Formats: sequence, structure tokens, C-alpha cells
Amino acid sequence: MTTPAGLPESAVDPRPSTPLISMRLSAGYRGRPPVVENVELDMAPGEILGLVGRSGEGKSTIAMAILKLLSIRGGKATGEIRFRGRELLTLSEREMRRIRGREISLVPQSPIAALNPALTIGTQFREAWNAHSSAPYAGFEPRLGELLAGVSLPSEPQFLRRHPGELSVGIAQRVLIAMALVHRPALILADEPTSALDTITQSEILGLLARLNRELETAILYISHDLLSVASLCHRVAILHQGSIVECGPVSQIFARPQHPYTRKLLASIPRHPL
Ligand SMILES: Nc1ncnc2c1ncn2[C@@H]1O[C@H](COP(=O)(O)OP(=O)(O)OP(=O)(O)O)[C@@H](O)[C@H]1O
Ligand SMILES: [Mg+2]
Repeated sequence: MTTPAGLPESAVDPRPSTPLISMRLSAGYRGRPPVVENVELDMAPGEILGLVGRSGEGKSTIAMAILKLLSIRGGKATGEIRFRGRELLTLSEREMRRIRGREISLVPQSPIAALNPALTIGTQFREAWNAHSSAPYAGFEPRLGELLAGVSLPSEPQFLRRHPGELSVGIAQRVLIAMALVHRPALILADEPTSALDTITQSEILGLLARLNRELETAILYISHDLLSVASLCHRVAILHQGSIVECGPVSQIFARPQHPYTRKLLASIPRHPL
């Protein structure tokens, strides 16, 4: 292969790695002005990108649009979402079902509400496994042990027989993170995964996400309104305001030299430690 200049391809700089996902997205809800317009975001494989904005700016709308689940909430997305060479917005529901949970998973904001209160934890893991019929049943038990150990949860039968109501919120969030990982997704959408947790449990979950990202190289879109947690976890951060990404860059750059007035305002609102 040669380049347009006639050089062999191997003689020029390698191209930047292909993004795992790149999008230019507009989305909103029936009968209302658009929530986001032409939001451009891309993520490299294995990257942790923070998506930050105040409540109501459209962070969850973006996550639901990526999963093509907006229509069940009366919403609609237009534009492009390119994921591993496929254009998600043109895929059928059947094709999307093969991607959801398998290649892109969601870790939701309210762990207890996201679990089925009537089913044991073990049963819910089995359902997550069976959601993709191509996964052979024989692989379930070893994978479950691996997953529970990976998120520092016990794998004893007594634990798996518990119901969600018997778990603390922090343990329930670990369960949901493990469930999101069942099929080794390339991308996790973590929609404010720590906002329901106390500060100590929050930092444990952030540590867990960071470790899983290092060990499994799973990319994470970390949605939050909390810049401090973003600073401790993310490689880059995108600031969402009034329907657009107003600023995006490495965490150190955004914290040290914020360019947009809204980013400066967000940074100024971080409570300082009294000591
Ligand atoms: N099902 C819906 N129908 C109509 N409007 C909706 C619906 N869901 C969300 N919205 C509106 O869309 C806007 C963006 O909501 P979204 O939930 O995406 O914000 P968010 O940034 O995730 O907020 P939060 O930080 O509170 O979770 C808000 O004004 C919200 O009221
Ligand atoms: Mg939200």
C-alpha cells in the first residue's frame, strides 16, 4: 500500500488509533425543544471520558441515545453514532439487542431501583448471562466467580441467595457493575454511578472502576455532575452546557486552564476543604 505522496504506508506516522465510538448527536423529547444539538464526542478504546453538566443538561439523554433506548421514553435522536465501525442509529432493534449488554453496558444511577426486588442476586446474574443466547450455559458458573471476585463481592451461595432489599446501596452498585461486565463489553456507560452513595463508598466504587478499566481495558463514559470524582477517575472530560459540549480536553488541562465561563463557574463551585 502507498500513500497519496507515493510513500509506502509504513514510512509515515501511524494514524491515530481509530476511536471506539464517535458521535455527532442531536436528541430531545416529543413536543419540546431539543435537549442536545450536534454534540460531538469521541472515545478511544480503553479511555475514561467524564461527561459533566448540571442536572437537566442532557447527560442521561446522551447515554440513552447511545443505547438507542430514547424512544421508550418518548425521545428521539438524530445524527451519527459510530461504534466499532457500525452506525448505531441505523441499526434495527434486533441488531441493537446484540450490542446492548454485550458490547455496551449501562451502570445506572440508582442501584437498588435497577435490580428486580423479587429475584435473588444469583438469578439476576443468570438472567444477564442468558440475555445473550449465544453464551453457553456451561460458562456461567466460572464467569460468575470471576466477576464477583473482580468487584470484591463474596461468591458464597448465601450471598447469591439474597434479594436486593437485603443489600446496602454500595453492595448493590458492585452487583450492577459486575452485571454490566458479564459479557466483557468494550464500553460502559456509567450514569452517575456514585451519586446515591456515601462518600467512603463513593471512593471505593471510583477505585473499583479505575481498576476494572486498567485490568480489562473497558472504556467508560463516566457521567457526573461532580468534578472532583471526574478528576480522580477520568482521562479526559467533556463539559455539557445548554445542549452543546462547551469544552473538552484532558482533566489536568480543564482543571488548570478552563477556557469556557461555564467550566470556570463549575470549578469555582467545588467546595474547598476547610483545613
Ligand atoms: N422522558 C422525558 N420526556 C420529556 N422530557 C424529558 C424526559 N426525560 C428527560 N427530559 C428532559 O430532558 C432534559 C435532559 O434530561 P436528562 O435526564 O438527560 O438530564 P441529566 O443531565 O441526565 O440530568 P440529571 O443530572 O438530573 O440526571 C431535562 O430538561 C429533562 O426534564
Ligand atoms: Mg441523568
